[in-house]
Amino acid sequence: MKITLTTGTVLNEAAELAILACLEAAPLPEAVADLLEVADFSGKTSQTRLLYPRGAVLPKRLLLLGLGPADKLTTETLRRAAATAVRQARDLQVANVAFGLNDQLELAPALIGQALAEGAELGAYRYLRYKTGLKPEQTFAVEAMTLVTPEATDAMQAGVAVGQTIAGGVMLARNLVNTPPGVLTPAALADQAVALGERTGVAVTIFDKARLTEEGFGGLLAVGQGSANEPRLIVMEYGKAAEGRPTICLVGKGLTFDSGGLSLKPADAMTTMKSDMGGSAAVLGAMQVIAELQLPLHVVGLVPSAENMPSSTSYRPDDVLTTLSGKTIEVLNTDAEGRIVLADALFYAQRYNPAAIIELSTLTGAIVVALGSHATGMMGTNQELADAIKQAGETTGERVWQLPLWEEYHEMIKSEIADLKNIGGRQAGSITAGAFLAAFVGDYPFVHLDIAGTAYAEKPAQPYNVAGGTGVGVRLLTEFLRQYTDGV
Ligand code: BES
Ligand code: ZN
Ligand code: ZN
Repeated sequence: MKITLTTGTVLNEAAELAILACLEAAPLPEAVADLLEVADFSGKTSQTRLLYPRGAVLPKRLLLLGLGPADKLTTETLRRAAATAVRQARDLQVANVAFGLNDQLELAPALIGQALAEGAELGAYRYLRYKTGLKPEQTFAVEAMTLVTPEATDAMQAGVAVGQTIAGGVMLARNLVNTPPGVLTPAALADQAVALGERTGVAVTIFDKARLTEEGFGGLLAVGQGSANEPRLIVMEYGKAAEGRPTICLVGKGLTFDSGGLSLKPADAMTTMKSDMGGSAAVLGAMQVIAELQLPLHVVGLVPSAENMPSSTSYRPDDVLTTLSGKTIEVLNTDAEGRIVLADALFYAQRYNPAAIIELSTLTGAIVVALGSHATGMMGTNQELADAIKQAGETTGERVWQLPLWEEYHEMIKSEIADLKNIGGRQAGSITAGAFLAAFVGDYPFVHLDIAGTAYAEKPAQPYNVAGGTGVGVRLLTEFLRQYTDGV
């Protein structure tokens, strides 16, 4: 979408549709107040009123949009507002929409621009690749948005560019999650990473099965051995480690489909398991954004990718695996496969001597029980790092909620026959999974984000999400890394 800025008021734009976003209880321009029964619009959160001014002001249609009270206004409010505006334009088949703010907002111009651009781009997103016979009105796309503010600044313009770049990464992640699992195999995901590298200059290396075998990725190989679609490790590297340029490792679970393996999932639980690569999608999306924003960091993205299938070659319950680290795992349930592939990738991350390892995975159904779809579960070994991620979650609206990793939880995954067992029993399912992962990161600062409830939306709660992949994690990681950069 083309997003431009102009100085002025949206009421003077000769647009097919103009949006006037208003704080609650703030005075409306006289020309607008004259157009409606005053009680019909208060500006409360998400309230909309579509007016046909018939020449009273220049826009042909005027949508009043409530932003809620000034003291509760955040960038999330603006993201939602811009998404609502774009959706309304699409409904009305208006290709060029104007968006204006009625009030002075207590937010930095760069943040306003960023949030509006993110909301507009993400609100316009749809996944139509497998729809056939669509009519033009069903594929109609909003082409341009003009942001009209009393003072269009360079800072706001720069914010718009940042927001569009970030939204691009989110949409990449959504597309990857939404792609059917027969199409997006581990090899195809690796191809996507290679293409990303060619687009952005990120260095991408793919380990195929032969290379994984040679190097001893016993966990990733075991999980993938039941599928004809062989596993891969994707290694993406942006920038180089240097003095004042610390290394951050991003690790994403890349199960292109999780049937449960021999510990087969019931049919209802198996649908949506194409989204079991949501962590990897977030890592690819974030790598793209980091490269496009040229952040002064060294960022390594690692994706262990496999398909978990039942077959005569599958790994079994009771198997004992030797991981890349040398640590052994007793398999008690082949459906707890994410932690096994991640064990190898997390251990591999240590070779980069990273300042932080941040890992994202659709890891446990238990986190969905605990937090629903409104927050990502977080566990970590370094509170400063966890606090920074928590802050990024508040800023972006991709909220995280922390659970503890006390010693007692580590006890729950000790095995009789091997070093670790891959399930810890019915209790604290998300935490024992996190504790398992923490056994493979050494002393490096580590945060685990369980996105099982947030990566895929059956009923999206925000206007900038649609049913399907959300791209969760891209905005969170980008915000964390941008703030981290400021601190270096
Ligand atoms: N991929 C699933 C977790 C999941 C569940 C993601 C629901 C998204 C939505 C994971 O591999 C899994 O199956 N976990 C098991 C672990 C159990 C066997 C200890 C689970 O949560 O049931
Ligand atoms: Zn599973
Ligand atoms: Zn899984």
